[in-house]
Amino acid sequence: MSVRNLPPVYNKIAQHAVFPEMNHDERARYNFLANLNKHLAHVSTGNKVAFENRVEPKFEKEHGRKIASTEELKQAISKDAHYQVWSSLRRSTMEMRQQAGRSIVLRQAAELRDKVKALNEGKDSLILDESVKVPPYLLACDNHIMPGSYHTELIEDDVTPAANYDTGLFVTTAGLLGRYSDGGGKAIVSWVRKTYPDFNPKRILDIGCGMGHNVLPIAKAFPNAEVIGIDTGAPMLRYANARAVDLGITNVKFMQMDAAKTTFEDESFDWVQSTMFFHETGGKSIYKIMDEVYRVLKPGGLTLHIEQPQYTDDMSLFEKFIRDWDALYNNEPYWSKMHDIEPVDLMKSSGFREEDFMQIGAKAENDLDDGSQKADEPEDHGRSPIWNVFGAIKN
Ligand SMILES: C[S@@+](CC[C@H](N)C(=O)[O-])C[C@H]1O[C@@H](n2cnc3c(N)ncnc32)[C@H](O)[C@@H]1O
Repeated sequence: MSVRNLPPVYNKIAQHAVFPEMNHDERARYNFLANLNKHLAHVSTGNKVAFENRVEPKFEKEHGRKIASTEELKQAISKDAHYQVWSSLRRSTMEMRQQAGRSIVLRQAAELRDKVKALNEGKDSLILDESVKVPPYLLACDNHIMPGSYHTELIEDDVTPAANYDTGLFVTTAGLLGRYSDGGGKAIVSWVRKTYPDFNPKRILDIGCGMGHNVLPIAKAFPNAEVIGIDTGAPMLRYANARAVDLGITNVKFMQMDAAKTTFEDESFDWVQSTMFFHETGGKSIYKIMDEVYRVLKPGGLTLHIEQPQYTDDMSLFEKFIRDWDALYNNEPYWSKMHDIEPVDLMKSSGFREEDFMQIGAKAENDLDDGSQKADEPEDHGRSPIWNVFGAIKN
């Protein structure tokens, strides 16, 4: 591996007042895991070789036909030694990353809670609502092996799920989202400014905002807009608000709400945004949430959703399978479902018109000066910061 392929070092990540404290060993552990992740993207290229040279020919010899489904492919490739090594290492890096992050934040859970509380004190920009229920699909599993997912509170007013997420995103993406892990939000701002230079939204809604990584660049770019991020996870929202306060962003509010049933008025937003959200919502909720997006968006308003690269008809069975690895082994059970739905059909089912539908590509803007993805690097399927963005202008 050449030097240019190394991820940036963890010390370059941006700090803020509620960012967990990390000692030398914890940073070293994260650096190791980010490097291992990046290296595994290279190891992954051998899976295609294994498939073409060993797995497929063996299957054809035994069955007298080609592999017909991703399930058959999974069964066949699971016996291949190269795939086994790659797959188990990839799972292990995620488990190690989650446990490393957890030990960092749990030992300072009370201090983090208190720092967040102090920053949120007296601010009307954090609106929590205990009556909001975490949707069953989020309760059903620990998303991407993150213990307790986004909502679990181990102490009163806990913020550790968000703090863990904040420290560790760097590892999962090998530092490709930038210093503030906000490369997605920045990319969408650049695209919107270039494509609609006269767009001057007064009210912006970010659904499934998490701890606000990608809504802050939007709020910053449109300082005269009222920006609202909603999420069902109270720990995420507490941390998000404190982080925004510390970073001096004053036009954003964080509210606890289910995106499938918000309390906003009809046609009350100029822009409804989501980032890396829909692939973590289950079955019927995807449709209910899009109905809600349609309901709250003003006519002439813009909606954009940054998602995983979509499957296409011309995509090989192997590529679909490898892109679905996270659904199988990284506790991302809804990921495949999102890939199977055509975004245009999803949006049409809620009332958007086909002629207003748009689908664009976006790549994270990365302000870490070394470590940006080079053209000759293999894609880390499903994890690289290259996204499908779909959306529409509401008629
Ligand atoms: C992968 S995180 C994405 C966070 C954020 N958009 C970002 O770009 O960093 C997904 C978030 O969606 C939230 N979520 C899932 N279903 C939701 C729903 N129905 N309503 C509101 N938030 C939801 C989760 O709690 C989680 O914080």
